Amino acid sequence: MRLCFASNNAHKLDEIRPLLPATVQLLSLAAIGCTEELPETQDTLEGNARQKAQYVWDHFGVACFADDTGLEVTALGGAPGVYSARYAGPQRLAEDNVAKLLHELRNHPDRTARFRTVVALVLPDGTVHEFAGAVEGHINPELHGTGGFGYDPVFIPAEGDGRTFAEMPLTEKNGLSHRSRAVAKLVAFLNQK
Ligand code: IMP
Repeated sequence: MRLCFASNNAHKLDEIRPLLPATVQLLSLAAIGCTEELPETQDTLEGNARQKAQYVWDHFGVACFADDTGLEVTALGGAPGVYSARYAGPQRLAEDNVAKLLHELRNHPDRTARFRTVVALVLPDGTVHEFAGAVEGHINPELHGTGGFGYDPVFIPAEGDGRTFAEMPLTEKNGLSHRSRAVAKLVAFLNQK
């Protein structure tokens, strides 16, 4: 089955590729000729994931899936959540987002947080299906590691050994992560079809 992953984030593509069965031919947005920015104007992860996947289906007629991820920090009432990419402004810079997060949390004893991903899939018959995954953890006061992307240098998963996601090889992050959990549900669904 040919399936487009509706994201321009190369890190996400690298994470997802090894999780999919050989029966899926994974296509990038560039491979289907989609060069425009995908709309992402909803106020929930579910809404944004559906909006991106639906856009590709409507404009390119290719079965596809999109993910939307948020970092939900307990002491910040679930922020930055759906606004994680633009937390420190429209420039969407990970460095600025992480700096703002550490500043906001500087006086909070509770540093617990979770990553939550929603994947929306549009099949060749136009039906839409949704899969979610989450990982609990906490925000380290300092950046550790050079791997991964986004908030990875400050996120320590509760099920790990105290290292941040950015200190783990890809396979290890994939063993624990929000996105891999949502994609595992997507794969189980595709396998039943
Ligand atoms: P989006 O799903 O691409 O909209 O991501 C929202 C924000 O969360 C962006 O700032 C990403 O860099 C960040 N993000 C998404 N997934 C991850 C992850 O697996 N680790 C760290 N940060 C992430």
